[in-house]
Amino acid sequence: MSDCPCRSPQTPLEWDYYYDLRWRVLREPWGQPRGSERDDEEDQAYHVAVFTEESVIAVGRLHPISSSVGQIRYMAVSPDHLKQGLGSKILAHLEAKARERELNQVELDARETALAFYTKHGYFVSGISPTKWGIPHRRMRKPV
Ligand SMILES: CC(C)(COP(=O)(O)OP(=O)(O)OC[C@H]1O[C@@H](n2cnc3c(N)ncnc32)[C@H](O)[C@@H]1OP(=O)(O)O)[C@@H](O)C(=O)NCCC(=O)NCCS
Repeated sequence: MSDCPCRSPQTPLEWDYYYDLRWRVLREPWGQPRGSERDDEEDQAYHVAVFTEESVIAVGRLHPISSSVGQIRYMAVSPDHLKQGLGSKILAHLEAKARERELNQVELDARETALAFYTKHGYFVSGISPTKWGIPHRRMRKPV
């Protein structure tokens, strides 16, 4: 489907690594407790991660929010592996999965610090999203 070196977590340990990376990158720096890195859509969502032997170094998730639109959430790359193309590969993989599921648009709530990353990948700002823990967000969309 793509050249992403990623796959869905399978074992309980792999799921632990998966959620741990989400928490460390997206929640811990803002003082949020473990558990805050999950939501009610986990069971319906498509999850991918890049694994090393003993950890996960990049993650992302897609879930449908209507018959034609998917939402990407929890994009995170470990600090030691930033800017090596992993985020781009996960994003392209999730977009391909959206097409495979006959969705024609993907949306996400981008942190302002990640706007340039998503813009580079063809997303455009379609609105403002709620500020979370003091981090301004923008709603972004892309036809896929
Ligand atoms: C956003 C994130 C997932 C990008 O992952 P990544 O693996 O570092 O990105 P890539 O290596 O695929 O980068 C692709 C391009 O985007 C650029 N880029 C990556 N992160 C960027 C950022 N934060 N700001 C500006 N440009 C960025 C890279 O320089 C690269 O550009 P190039 O192709 O011209 O060299 C990663 O920075 C991250 O986990 N950030 C912290 C968590 C976060 O903000 N997640 C998104 C929540 S909305």
